[in-house]
Amino acid sequence: MRTVLILFLFLAFPLEAHHGPHHGQGDKNARDAQRVKGVYAKINASYSQNVKAIIDAKCGDCHGGPPRLPWYYSIPGIKGLIDRDIHEAQVHLIFSNGFPFGGHGTPTEDLEELKSALEKDNMPPTRYRVLHPGSSPTDNEKNAILSWIEESQKEMGFIREEEGK
Ligand code: HEC
Repeated sequence: MRTVLILFLFLAFPLEAHHGPHHGQGDKNARDAQRVKGVYAKINASYSQNVKAIIDAKCGDCHGGPPRLPWYYSIPGIKGLIDRDIHEAQVHLIFSNGFPFGGHGTPTEDLEELKSALEKDNMPPTRYRVLHPGSSPTDNEKNAILSWIEESQKEMGFIREEEGK
């Protein structure tokens, strides 16, 4: 019986808190969420215009969209390697639905990771570049993505990390 009572208190209390004297806070949070949404929409518009085509072409095989599977996908043993790559890549980042990206990070983290991958030149992975000549982003393409990241980080400056996605 006591357990039931404790459970009840746990369940009831947060509800109470929401309806209680913090109503003004709720309105403020709703306004903030609206503002964050607006900023993401603006960033996504710029993504579609300046970056999406590059990323879809060079990164899309693993990070989203239907992969263009190569003929050697059907070789026993290879399929597993490719599937694992795609799975791993998408745990980190899915670019195909625009910004905010899918995957495990917050939008703020995702921009940092993308920036770092471009600066270190470690994406696409070497094993992929070897088989897909021309898949490395060119300097111009990298600069376009990096400028978009910088612009987006300025827009997002006011967003606290815990607000996440
Ligand atoms: C062959 C598949 C493949 C392609 C193509 C590919 N990636 Fe990845 N990507 C991965 C895998 C696998 C991971 C996760 C493991 C790792 O970091 O190596 C990953 C992780 C990442 C991460 C997270 C890095 C981290 O340290 O967590 C970023 C950012 C990234 N990729 C960006 C890109 C960009 C940008 C492109 C295109 C220019 C690209 N990837 C193309 C497979 C790919």
